[in-house]
Amino acid sequence: MKTSLAIPVQKTSKSRLPEIDFSNLVFGKTISDHMFVADYKNGEWTDLRIEPYGVLDLHPANAALHYGQSIFEGMKAYKNEKGEILVFRGDANAQRMNESAARMCMPEIPEEIFMEGLLQLLDLDRNWVPSGKGSSLYIRPFMFATDNYIGVKPSETYKFIIFTCPVGAYYSKPVNVKVETNFTRATEGGTGAAKTAGNYAASLYPALQAQKAGYDQLLWTDGKSHSKIEESGTMNVMFDINGTLITAPTHTGTILKGITRDSVIRLAKDWGMPLEERFLTVAELQEALEKGTLREAFGTGTAATIAHIAKINVNGMDYILPENPSDAFSTKVLNELDGIKYGEIADTRGWIV
Ligand code: COI
Repeated sequence: MKTSLAIPVQKTSKSRLPEIDFSNLVFGKTISDHMFVADYKNGEWTDLRIEPYGVLDLHPANAALHYGQSIFEGMKAYKNEKGEILVFRGDANAQRMNESAARMCMPEIPEEIFMEGLLQLLDLDRNWVPSGKGSSLYIRPFMFATDNYIGVKPSETYKFIIFTCPVGAYYSKPVNVKVETNFTRATEGGTGAAKTAGNYAASLYPALQAQKAGYDQLLWTDGKSHSKIEESGTMNVMFDINGTLITAPTHTGTILKGITRDSVIRLAKDWGMPLEERFLTVAELQEALEKGTLREAFGTGTAATIAHIAKINVNGMDYILPENPSDAFSTKVLNELDGIKYGEIADTRGWIV
């Protein structure tokens, strides 16, 4: 691998690899041996290093713990048949991380540090990348404030870390969702487009209420009128109504700019699939469910990949979606994306490193 940054490596004295049951991976519970770390101080990123994955020393006055300056990314690496490690659209994650950083008053991380740190970490922990369709190495880059100060202001110091987890499916079966018209995930002018910890914290209580009622996730609606579908808790959402793919636009700043979302849109356009980036109203969704014109609905996300939706609750009514038809767009797009990610289909769009 071509590298331009000299990143010191402290290897673990005892790899945990022999203890791992790769046939039984629970999403996010198994963490690989090493992590990439960089510190931000005096206006620059310094002390780049790879070290054994382990606990962090945190001061109780750590600003991120109190005021939530904390952002993250989710990305994946895959193993192809030759045993090579392929990273999907890493540059897009680096860019989105910096968009989140700007919104949260945090420093940008240069793409070179992000990608070099990641690629050198993957090279070292390459045996942690599982083989086989459906398995991958989930990559979690994140950044948080490290000032120890209780006044409310942007921190002057930060830590950037990347660690990785071998994973299987995030959702092992099609998901049941409930349209949320009471709680709000994001409003215009807020932080909805940033991948920041607080957005997820705020979603936990409403999501738990839905889970208690038997749903896996919420379909969030806009914060003002609760009449337009925005996204789901861990993914963007798309609807096929009478052969037209509809998904929420991102210009309002309330929607996460999903990289899987963008990839699906690119493929849909390349294939000539009718596509509308617009808000689907709750009323339109309910009408399509009642008339049977909703062919399918699915979530798109790095962790979730393409997650079929089996049931939607709208205004207290449960609607069961048709079993995923064999010619479903989502199946075609999932196969295409998997083919590219696992190196079986030529990457003509420059998505793979
Ligand atoms: C991802 O899809 O990578 C996410 O970050 C969603 C979730 C696991 C928080």
